[in-house]
Amino acid sequence: ADGARVPVVVIGTGYGGSVAALRLAQAGVDVHMIEMGMAWDTPGSDGKIFCNTTAPDYRSYWLRTKTKQPLSNFLGFPIDRNIPRYTGILDAEEFGGITVYQGRGVGGGSLVNGGMAVTPRRENFGAVLPSVNADEMYDVYYPRANAGLGVGTVDPAWFDTAACYQYARVGRKHAQRSGFPFVFVPDVYDWDYMAREAAGSVTKSALAGEILYGNNHGKKSLQQTYLARAKATGRVSISPLHRVTSVSPAGGGGYTVVMEQIDTGGGVTATKSVTADRVFFAAGSVGTSKLLVKLKATGALPNLNAEVGKGWGDNGNVMCGRANHMWDPTGPLQSSIPCAGIDNWAAGGAFAEVAPLPTGIETYASFYLSITRNPNRARFSWNAAASRVELDWQTSWKQPSIAMAKTIFDKINVKEGTIYRTDLFGGYKIWGDHLTYHPLGGAVLNKATDDLGRLHGHPGLYVIDGALIPGNTSVNPFVTITALAERNIEKIIAAGL
Ligand code: FDA
Repeated sequence: ADGARVPVVVIGTGYGGSVAALRLAQAGVDVHMIEMGMAWDTPGSDGKIFCNTTAPDYRSYWLRTKTKQPLSNFLGFPIDRNIPRYTGILDAEEFGGITVYQGRGVGGGSLVNGGMAVTPRRENFGAVLPSVNADEMYDVYYPRANAGLGVGTVDPAWFDTAACYQYARVGRKHAQRSGFPFVFVPDVYDWDYMAREAAGSVTKSALAGEILYGNNHGKKSLQQTYLARAKATGRVSISPLHRVTSVSPAGGGGYTVVMEQIDTGGGVTATKSVTADRVFFAAGSVGTSKLLVKLKATGALPNLNAEVGKGWGDNGNVMCGRANHMWDPTGPLQSSIPCAGIDNWAAGGAFAEVAPLPTGIETYASFYLSITRNPNRARFSWNAAASRVELDWQTSWKQPSIAMAKTIFDKINVKEGTIYRTDLFGGYKIWGDHLTYHPLGGAVLNKATDDLGRLHGHPGLYVIDGALIPGNTSVNPFVTITALAERNIEKIIAAGL
């Protein structure tokens, strides 16, 4: 309630926030979570909570009047459509040189993501989090995160025959014919449920093209895992449709957290404040960085250090499609859950997931999201005149990613006698180089914070989300975000908060 005093506020309900809430509650601490997005627990008039990628409606995008689909075109035609402005589930946040996609709602990115739950290869970990003890991570915290998230892997025998993974088997064939290691990628989707979808005995979700705007069945988002357990403690409350705008030292100790309550049109209906002894920033890499940069620049948190806002990367994301020959159809039915990848990290700096194009028709296209070792790092800064936080990423900074992805796909194209698709991103572009799904950094561990995520300069403030990770995880990031949060919160609680 407005004006209340609470022990802990957690800003954001994604991976970092959910881990913090669960572990604090289990340690006997009452936690209040504040989330700018909706609760996503109530069906719409069609009986469904989430809408489909084939028919994005008011629920699809965060406060936009037109969709901004990652693939803007198909067969050369623009596919974006008008929608009512609503606090929808996917935010396509535009900065000068990049569009950053993020989940909005209770569960954060877990609501919209592909559920690919990948632990980095151990030999790459030193570059992911240089100050963190790898033995502890691989012995304790990665296993804990994988268990908490409910990670599993597709049954290889089922994969070999399932119609919905023909696209991935074509991806495997092409990878192997060019000599690249092909790997199965674990996921939090319930694989037994997917097999029953394929058998026609349950309501389809992955096999009905649900993904980017939420899955009505099958996917274990944080709502089903960490947040369910957190709520079951009785010590965690969540305020959806509340956006934190300020955190500053309170007169009698602790911090005043100011928030705006918003309606589903995005209008502010009330401004409230609570006082918290401790505040965990878990608003995601972009959300946490934007808050901290603004609060430092405007004097609300003057003692934050000069590292705040720095070290942001896009996890080297770049997309592309290849046009296959008629003898390599990828199938009209494609599971929206990717389950495989091509690992050329060591030799070429690229890990490419074989992604679906769930259009419902045969496209003869292979589609890929590559994660690359892009070295470029951007910085958030406060534009006082415009009263907003900006990010100095340049579109041209994706060039190293394209070069790394080409180490895989140029070779496959030569071997198969195929070409890149030019009809997916508009303007005959081959490379989807305008976006990222994997924002990381902005309040880097051991730089803006100490080695446990405690912000320098203001005791009682913590960062516990993707902002801690310096720009790249070599694979999809949420398992690493979860494992790091498990590590940090355990040590923070052990140290007496
Ligand atoms: P996360 O972004 O999850 O949560 C932050 C929360 O804070 C959000 O709910 C947000 O609304 C809220 N918030 C922000 N500012 C706020 C404020 N001022 N006040 C109140 N609340 C605020 N990763 C992966 O490993 N495998 C995958 O398959 C995919 N696939 C994928 C697909 C798509 C389309 C996207 C967009 C992303 C992915 N990802 C992914 C990335 C993954 O989802 C992402 O890395 C994590 O969700 C980040 O977790 P965090 O805890 O850092 O923040």
